[in-house]
Amino acid sequence: MSPSTTGIETPWIRTHTCGELNGSFTGKEVVLAGWVARRRDHGGLIFIDLRDLYGITQLVFDPAISGSQKSKEAAESVRGEFVISIKGVVRRRPEDMVNPKISTGEIEISVSELHVLSSAKTPPFLIDDHTDAGEVLRLKHRYLDLRRPSLQKNLIVRHQTYQVVRRYLSEQKFLEIETPILFKSTPEGARDYLVPSRVNPGNFYALVQSPQIMKQLLMVAGFDRYFQIARCFRDEDLRADRQPEFSQIDIEMSFTNRELIYKIMEGLVESLFEEIKGMKISTPFPRMTYQQAMDEYGVDKPDTRFTLKIKDATKIFSGSGFQAFRNVVDAGGFVRGLRLDMKTQGEHQFSRKDLDDLTKVAQAHGAKGMAWIKVESPKEGPLASFNSPIAKFLSDAEREQLIKEWKLSPGDLVLIVADTSFDTMCAALGNLRNHLGRKLGLIDEGLYNFLWVTDFPLVQYDADCKRYVACHHPFTSPTPEDEKKLLAGEDLANLKAAAYDLVLNGYEVAGGSIRIFRQEVQSAMFRALGFSEEETLQKFGFFVEALQYGTPPHGGIAFGVDRMVMLMVGTDAIREVMAFPKTQKATCLMSECPSPVVPEQLAELHISVLKKQAPESSKQ
Ligand code: AMO
Repeated sequence: MSPSTTGIETPWIRTHTCGELNGSFTGKEVVLAGWVARRRDHGGLIFIDLRDLYGITQLVFDPAISGSQKSKEAAESVRGEFVISIKGVVRRRPEDMVNPKISTGEIEISVSELHVLSSAKTPPFLIDDHTDAGEVLRLKHRYLDLRRPSLQKNLIVRHQTYQVVRRYLSEQKFLEIETPILFKSTPEGARDYLVPSRVNPGNFYALVQSPQIMKQLLMVAGFDRYFQIARCFRDEDLRADRQPEFSQIDIEMSFTNRELIYKIMEGLVESLFEEIKGMKISTPFPRMTYQQAMDEYGVDKPDTRFTLKIKDATKIFSGSGFQAFRNVVDAGGFVRGLRLDMKTQGEHQFSRKDLDDLTKVAQAHGAKGMAWIKVESPKEGPLASFNSPIAKFLSDAEREQLIKEWKLSPGDLVLIVADTSFDTMCAALGNLRNHLGRKLGLIDEGLYNFLWVTDFPLVQYDADCKRYVACHHPFTSPTPEDEKKLLAGEDLANLKAAAYDLVLNGYEVAGGSIRIFRQEVQSAMFRALGFSEEETLQKFGFFVEALQYGTPPHGGIAFGVDRMVMLMVGTDAIREVMAFPKTQKATCLMSECPSPVVPEQLAELHISVLKKQAPESSKQ
């Protein structure tokens, strides 16, 4: 029988939360409210763990003390996740019952009155940080998942982040200004989410991918320091650190240079870590050029918590008898690799299977293969010998040079990838490096290693689009040294951008640039990206026009709030720091969106659907 619940509102207002009482409140009468986390019936006594956002407090229903048989009877009928309100007296727990793991562990409440505010169905999974429920089930009942203390803590950190950001940036004279979410669809960047206009048949808005254009227009308008906690929408392939809608701390300022932006952002990060984590982050952050990051770490967001670096062997193998290397070098490609010394390998012994698995990691990121060499003590002569499937193809000279240049000694393991494409070679080795960092326990998880990556290329050739695309976005300025070349349309592939990313522990947490602020440079950039005059006018006409009315030099940056909070709370899944995230397939399992709409709605929007929708069951 489920107990009757009280009327439409709580009978008493709580005097305390479930996380705040301790021994100093002994003897005090209190009112608490919350969810029943656990109920234990010990015959004469009933214990309930009452949970709210702030903690857990143990309730005891003991008729002998409180004199309340009625409340004990009510307690007998409550179940997990019922919402109750109680009145009782704080008392110290017996010494052997003290729980030092929770802040309320030295007390319990001897309950005299209990009201059931709301009963609950048996939840589909255990509401506990150690729940073994799969993510699909948890996302379907996200409101229950969000009752778990770890997720609640994450959202609290997110809230604190916003407060620190608002305070710090306001102190630095940045104004918080909102900009539209419904905006114009522009080429470049990720795919847009489109929104049909009912009153303008056949026309569409796009949900903004970021407020980039608008924040620049605010600079034209004279608001010289802007920020916004902005929702952004991108229809792109999702990953553990990417969601289709996410939030940015979006920042723009006039009359600035890169140094000033670095300094203000470093101050922001310092404040965040100090106020939220009580940690001192040391500034200024180290800097590394994009080229150095790619050469040494294989990625543009190096995890510098471990030192393993990529080494080059292209020259060594330029005349190699090993055809796979030779062909790559002849085609202007790269032969590079990683050297794992004994210290790096630690206790780990690499078996054939381990090496096959490493090869698969490299291949998953585009490599055609991966060569490995186990360096062993010399069998004859002074030179270490190579235990490797490719050993027989290598000359003594190659072996000698590799030993000398890579400073090899017996016990070392060498992993080599050769590829004609710089990007493929980097992707394979960069990901292999990160994989090894995790596998060999090389990463000090307590570290927060910030790093500015600078001097990105301005544009890169996109083989699919058959044209150059902007590496950051089309409003990013070339470095002062390269502006002339952009204006002349020369040497595009080698132009550098005044762009920077802030990297934390291998994640890009922020990205920004100094912007183009003169119309002729912006037009040159659009030309470099292959847009005709007409296209530029149609897509960006309003923006190019605005630049002609007196534009201050300006620049900015945007932090990915979700990623930043994700790293601050120590998780690697962005979904853990968002209240209602989407799945890998951009669906919401709880509301089952996206979902079909009735034909009348489509008709109103002047839209007809061509293809049959995928069946509901295939959604995830
Ligand atoms: P960018 O595209 O580099 O720059 O984005 C800035 C930061 O936003 C975060 N981010 C994401 N987080 C979660 N899910 C996503 N899909 C996602 N995409 C990006 C990253 C990234 O560093 N307008 C420019 C900024 C500027 O130039 O000022 C911009 O949006 O942490």
